[in-house]
Amino acid sequence: MFDTDFRNKTILITGASSGIGRQTAIDLSILGAKLILVGRDLLKLKETQNLCSLQSPIIIMGRDVTDESFPEEIVNILTSPLNGIVLNAGAVKVAPVAFLKRQDVDSLFEVNVKSNILLMQSLLRKKKIQKEASVVFISSISTVKATVGNALYNATKGALSSFAQSLALELAPKGIRVNTLLPGYIDTNILGRVRSEEEVEKHLSNYPLGRFGQPKDVSNLICFLLSDGSKWITGSQIKIDGGFSIH
Ligand SMILES: NC(=O)c1ccc[n+]([C@@H]2O[C@H](COP(=O)([O-])OP(=O)(O)OC[C@H]3O[C@@H](n4cnc5c(N)ncnc54)[C@H](OP(=O)(O)O)[C@@H]3O)[C@@H](O)[C@H]2O)c1
Repeated sequence: MFDTDFRNKTILITGASSGIGRQTAIDLSILGAKLILVGRDLLKLKETQNLCSLQSPIIIMGRDVTDESFPEEIVNILTSPLNGIVLNAGAVKVAPVAFLKRQDVDSLFEVNVKSNILLMQSLLRKKKIQKEASVVFISSISTVKATVGNALYNATKGALSSFAQSLALELAPKGIRVNTLLPGYIDTNILGRVRSEEEVEKHLSNYPLGRFGQPKDVSNLICFLLSDGSKWITGSQIKIDGGFSIH
């Protein structure tokens, strides 16, 4: 795919126990990449591993990315620098601003923003990112198109997108590329937990292509950004939203 031999690439995926992260792991395993998969739920991570191709060496780590020791643990298990990083673990909180608690604000920023900054910092300090590696952050279309009840979530993803832009500039001299995806509604568990079926159905009319996204739609793009086919793309914020943002 895209003239790239993934068998020589070691790729870290956070949030690989379900949804977009799981599908990305499956696709990269078929391409033969060596994978390090992170998520809190070890059973679900094992399910992901079972769905992956056997030709791909896989390490699974049942960890919370917000744990203080997590960045160091990742650094310690790496025998060679990473060729690709998919910063995908994330959580959502839907509530009007007036109803948010301090704890909600702290915990959402912790998982969606702070954990990613500290992980990148640790990998860079210990020189665990290969020259010409590719880093993909999963942000959200909600950073450019607001939706009611999502102010806190949007703020975290906006912060993540901004961080990624600056990091792209900082790492460009090393040939390390950093890009951000802005997905629209993707059919995973994350939103089913916070939106009713009726709300979801009503929302579909905002999608010009007539359907919500599937994890595969996003993983295709992630694989492209991890491949050499995208080696002149950095600092981009790429919308993948079935036309939602132009509606
Ligand atoms: N689905 C959408 O419509 C949509 C739209 C735009 C952006 N996104 C973003 O896409 C990313 C993936 O979400 P998804 O839709 O694939 O939902 P998902 O199936 O719920 O996946 C979320 C993943 O993040 C992991 N995770 C959450 N908190 C974690 C923590 N503290 N430590 C370690 N892992 C953690 C979960 O693992 P455990 O369950 O094992 O903890 C899970 O693997 C998220 O960043 C989300 O914000 C999703």
